Amino acid sequence: MGLFGGRHGVVGLDIGSSMVKLVRLRQASGSWELLSFNMGPLPPDAVVEGRIMNFTAVVERIRDLVREAGVKDAECSLSVSGSSVIIKKLSLPEMTREELDDSILWEAEQYIPFDIKDVNVDAQILNPRAGQGQMDVLMVAAKKDVVNEYVSVAVEGGLRPTVVDVSIFACLNMFEVNYSVPADQTLALLNVGANSINVGVLSGGAIAFTRDIAMGGAALTAEIQKQFNVSYDEAEAFKTGAESSLSSSTVAREVAKIADRVTDQMVTEVQRSLDFFVATSIKADIGRVYLSGGSAQLPALIRAIERRMEVPVELVNPFRNIAVDARRFDIDLLQRAAPVAGAAVGLALRRPGDAA
Ligand SMILES: Nc1ncnc2c1ncn2[C@@H]1O[C@H](COP(=O)(O)OP(=O)(O)OP(=O)(O)O)[C@@H](O)[C@H]1O
Ligand SMILES: [Mg+2]
Repeated sequence: MGLFGGRHGVVGLDIGSSMVKLVRLRQASGSWELLSFNMGPLPPDAVVEGRIMNFTAVVERIRDLVREAGVKDAECSLSVSGSSVIIKKLSLPEMTREELDDSILWEAEQYIPFDIKDVNVDAQILNPRAGQGQMDVLMVAAKKDVVNEYVSVAVEGGLRPTVVDVSIFACLNMFEVNYSVPADQTLALLNVGANSINVGVLSGGAIAFTRDIAMGGAALTAEIQKQFNVSYDEAEAFKTGAESSLSSSTVAREVAKIADRVTDQMVTEVQRSLDFFVATSIKADIGRVYLSGGSAQLPALIRAIERRMEVPVELVNPFRNIAVDARRFDIDLLQRAAPVAGAAVGLALRRPGDAA
């Protein structure tokens, strides 16, 4: 960690399939303050299934955001997700951090469907004394070529990546800084983006389960496009209610119907994941669902989760415990866009020198 490591977080760079988000925070006397939050759209096929397909488009977008935020050459953390990341909870004999570092590759090899040479492997000790001489470890492996893709666009975009995280971990990190969770509570956090849902379960204050689902709000945009024969931009406006002519009636009702159908499919997938968690754990009752990500703002999604899972649903505010200077930010605008910033805030909380 550098001389100023205790004061500045790194720049959090969240490269989503529909938008790039950049957040910078500062830590002063123990509390966090927002320095910048910038975001900008990507063309629809720039990032597909977690892979960067249009390098130029992503680099240009990052450059714009870096310029707007005035963070050229700053250290940044970024995240990967989806099928190029394997996360597994392991029960291993108690050992020191050094021993774990020495043996994790060998342990990982049994669980990874890729050649061990092609992945970066990291491990976090969840519970150093889980009983009977065992400890709980969270193993994470990410494909090197995918990590390199993300690192390259960040470098070309004018940043210095020093931390590579996993999207759902960043979201859970953001959540823990902003919300205090009773130790006996189990909750699910869903980061619902354009083409993915990152699912995380916290139980007793620890990560109990994670899963990435390849589905998101873009499915709804695509349906609206098809149904009304409109462009992507028009369909987005219909979806978010930005299109005022929409209040005319039948179209609005039709959009609402499509939203109900698509969000219902999303909840089915989430439930399928959570059923797996419930079936394989002891403290399985999920008491509350928290939502972040742009598509968390779909009222139909909130209703569908409440109805089908019969739990309270709450939108996460990533700036809940982060000071925001009203002279620098339009608070109204910021609060409305807040759920989108979830992962980027989590990334901005990381420190250079954290495990990469
Ligand atoms: N007010 C709104 N109502 C409904 N959907 C919205 C709203 N605002 C943004 N969205 C949707 O949120 C999505 C963008 O959210 P986000 O930035 O979290 O996704 P992403 O990170 O780009 O995607 P992913 O992580 O899945 O690759 C888009 O599909 C957009 O249409
Ligand atoms: Mg995202």
